[in-house]
Amino acid sequence: MTYSVSQLLTKDITLQPLEIKGWVRTFRANRFIALNDGSTINNIQCVVDFENTDEALLKRITTGAAVHIKGNLVESQGKGQKVEIQVTSIEILGDSDPDEYPIQPKKHTFEFLRENAHLRTRTNTFSAVMRLRSSLSFAVHKYFNENGFYNMHTPIVTGSDAEGAGEMFSVSALDPKNPPLTKDGNIDYKEDFFGKETNLTVSGQLEAETYAMSLGKVYTFGPTFRAENSNTSRHLAEFWMIEPEVAFMDLAGNMDLAEDFMKSVLSYVLKYNREDLEFLEQRLLDEEKTKPQVERSELSLIDKIKFVVDNNFKRVTYTEAIDILKNSKPNKKKKFNYIIEEWGADLQSEHERFLVEKHFKCPVILFDYPANIKAFYMRLNEDGKTVRAMDILFPGIGEMVGGSQREERLDVLIEKMKVLNIDEKELWWYLDLRKYGTAVHSGFGLGFERLVMFATGMGNIKDVIPYPRTPQNAEF
Ligand code: 4AD
Ligand code: MG
Repeated sequence: MTYSVSQLLTKDITLQPLEIKGWVRTFRANRFIALNDGSTINNIQCVVDFENTDEALLKRITTGAAVHIKGNLVESQGKGQKVEIQVTSIEILGDSDPDEYPIQPKKHTFEFLRENAHLRTRTNTFSAVMRLRSSLSFAVHKYFNENGFYNMHTPIVTGSDAEGAGEMFSVSALDPKNPPLTKDGNIDYKEDFFGKETNLTVSGQLEAETYAMSLGKVYTFGPTFRAENSNTSRHLAEFWMIEPEVAFMDLAGNMDLAEDFMKSVLSYVLKYNREDLEFLEQRLLDEEKTKPQVERSELSLIDKIKFVVDNNFKRVTYTEAIDILKNSKPNKKKKFNYIIEEWGADLQSEHERFLVEKHFKCPVILFDYPANIKAFYMRLNEDGKTVRAMDILFPGIGEMVGGSQREERLDVLIEKMKVLNIDEKELWWYLDLRKYGTAVHSGFGLGFERLVMFATGMGNIKDVIPYPRTPQNAEF
């Protein structure tokens, strides 16, 4: 019978002898193999009877080698583990040259591991992060499934710019050296594969709205793309977004949904990913020891997650937030890079972080933003100058969620699109929703990698996605 390391460490194994396959993490004193197969953060110790094992074979038991072991599970003689395997036979499935294998049993920098992203999940940190990522993804689908949502696959190639920010990657099959031109010298996209200009989607929202207005409650969870040239620790050019959209739900309902959803998925990993979280918590503690006291966080990783699960998010209007910021120390002492002078200013991440980390010290839902700093589709408030937008800000992360109640009134929406120069003809289908059975509806987008950052305590978004796409980097 072949078992995983996780099974060997947690289940009562009665069928002996047993078999196991995995990769050698370390081989100590010609005798002790620490074996890992990805099923858990823990290794299993396999004890080799070196006196009766061929010398040449022993030499091939090196860090990184894939092995097939047969043996018996016994109570461990040594300290550090309850059980171990007494090896009766070992077969090398794949050698790993110890002089060349990049993942040596020592501390590597995250920069080095990014360059070796194809091997970095062979380390404890990255295997823990990616198991957590997988678990969170499952928890997302579980939550929506249990709450009456339908999963919808929104298109990746699209003709529309949902956010109106113009940060899109174009998709074209034209010959870049010799594209067909129109009479006035522009590229003639009528000749292109789709017969129109297309790009990679920045959000599935607009299409999700069409399904919300028939299926009621839907969500899309897929890759989104943004060609913003910002090389920060929180931006990717390709990231995964979770976007629920619900008919007959207003902004208050949207906030309730987002809060309940986030608490639910975080509770899930607290329950099912304990060992990985404990490992990452220790990693973070070690990392923070190298920082000055003021920069260290007050709570450990698991306590931080528990705090979010157990406490209400603070709900604050944009207008209130501006007052707080205007009167804040860093604003008065001109410590912010962007000084908040008047109502209407767009908030920078330094302001968002001040609000969540220094002022409220908890997740904050900011809502009712000025219309002119938000996207065209958001519902205009009766004051005529703010929209029913909400951003959820998290300690250590900044913006985690962006959402809104959508403008459901045809005339108001058309007026807004005119002002912003958005072509009505391009979005005819989106306008149709407002012509036929329009209703209040709302939704939000949550950047999945930012959620993974929060749940793992990792400081760089490049370290929570398998193969990050960022400016000047699309390796692997
Ligand atoms: O605030 P955003 O731009 O909102 C939308 O796209 C809406 N259409 C969502 C909706 O209402 N259905 O993006 C949503 C979230 C952000 O709050 C952030 O967490 C994440 O997506 N995000 C990014 N994550 C990583 N890298 C980037 N470049 C990101 N841009 C946005
Ligand atoms: Mg946003």
